[in-house]
Amino acid sequence: MDREIPLYPIDLFSHESVRHANQVDDAVREFSPVVRLADGTVLITRHADVLAGLQDWQTFSSRSRPWHDPASLRPEILLTDDPPRHTHVRGVIAQTLSGTAMAALRSGFERDATQMVDWLLDHQHQVIDAVGDFTQRFVYKALPDAIGMKVEGREHMYSFSHMVWATMGPENELFKEAMVGIEPVLEWLEQCCNRENLSEGGIGMTLYRLADAGQVTQAEAKLLLQIVLSAGADTTILTMANAMRAFALFPSEYQKLRANPSLIKQAFDESLRWDSPSRMAGRIATRDVSIGDYTVAAGQRVGLMFGTANRDPRAWNDPQKYDLSRDLKKQVGWGYGVHACVGRVLAQLEAQVLLSELVRRVERIELAGEPEPWMTTIGHGPARLPIRVIAA
Ligand code: HEM
Repeated sequence: MDREIPLYPIDLFSHESVRHANQVDDAVREFSPVVRLADGTVLITRHADVLAGLQDWQTFSSRSRPWHDPASLRPEILLTDDPPRHTHVRGVIAQTLSGTAMAALRSGFERDATQMVDWLLDHQHQVIDAVGDFTQRFVYKALPDAIGMKVEGREHMYSFSHMVWATMGPENELFKEAMVGIEPVLEWLEQCCNRENLSEGGIGMTLYRLADAGQVTQAEAKLLLQIVLSAGADTTILTMANAMRAFALFPSEYQKLRANPSLIKQAFDESLRWDSPSRMAGRIATRDVSIGDYTVAAGQRVGLMFGTANRDPRAWNDPQKYDLSRDLKKQVGWGYGVHACVGRVLAQLEAQVLLSELVRRVERIELAGEPEPWMTTIGHGPARLPIRVIAA
């Protein structure tokens, strides 16, 4: 039986909803596997359907998406392409993230991680912010270093990614707030990924060399770097911060990790499942497609919801529990299918290095207050996470 997709009467992107995004999104999932929002956007909420949608790029195309503004400030490449163009461009960016390139970054990351954990331990028993004082400081150095960017201007990184995440959602109050004072950020963005501003040996210069070899145009190389800069920052910051929140809330899992640091990759992945930094991926349906008793019509703009899928009790036993023994092959926090995160090797390297140092030297992490949510529509996670650490 074909039923009308139910209207979901609550604004999921108001300040209030964003403050409680997990509860709000989980309620949508339990309401229906597919809902229609007041502005016509359709959301797919349950794990099996989200996973199937992410794997079927022919039906769920990336060429358009909810709230799509082709004139938006967001760099449009790769995430916004379908195969075969997508396959080609992805192959080019993947070459810059090779095993050799990652190995070359490790020692610099290790040096930074040591200094940052030194700082943490200098402040043990005091309230510090796990985001601003730790994961963000690390990533806002590691990522631009990896690209080969100049130090000046890096203070714009937060406003830049805040703006990019805003362009993925509706043009509401939060969108307007993200655009305030954006002009100097755009000027920096225009310059920072230009070839003459990049150092030798980084992802950026490698990409321009691939452009010289004709694999992409020079303009595409710049756009790809801007995508890396926007996609690789907050996602990694928030997932590592959420791992630290999980370590505080589930101390026995943290002790398992201390006893067996080879579980770091699993710990990072489980953190991504437990609390995903992106609420949804945007797509457009290219044909009528059935979700349970409902039909999503061709031409419909659709959100495939990562976070709700990763906490769907139909797919996960006791989903609110942070559990290092889970089989995470089907978690969707990295996406899934052709667009699955191409930068995960870099994120995993950063997490491997920073969290290993943390786990080795910190006996216990305690929450020292409520996390303050990041006020953005599609991104999700703590803007501030008050904690205390106790040295090993
Ligand atoms: C924990 C950290 C990260 C998370 C959770 C994450 C998450 C994701 C997700 C969910 C997607 C798929 C989006 C979709 O299907 O529409 C994606 C794609 C992508 N990510 Fe990541 N990401 C992370 C780190 C990074 C890093 C460090 C980089 C840069 C080196 C990066 C670059 C990209 C790019 C370029 C794409 C587009 C891939 C494509 O369209 O084929 N990400 N990421």
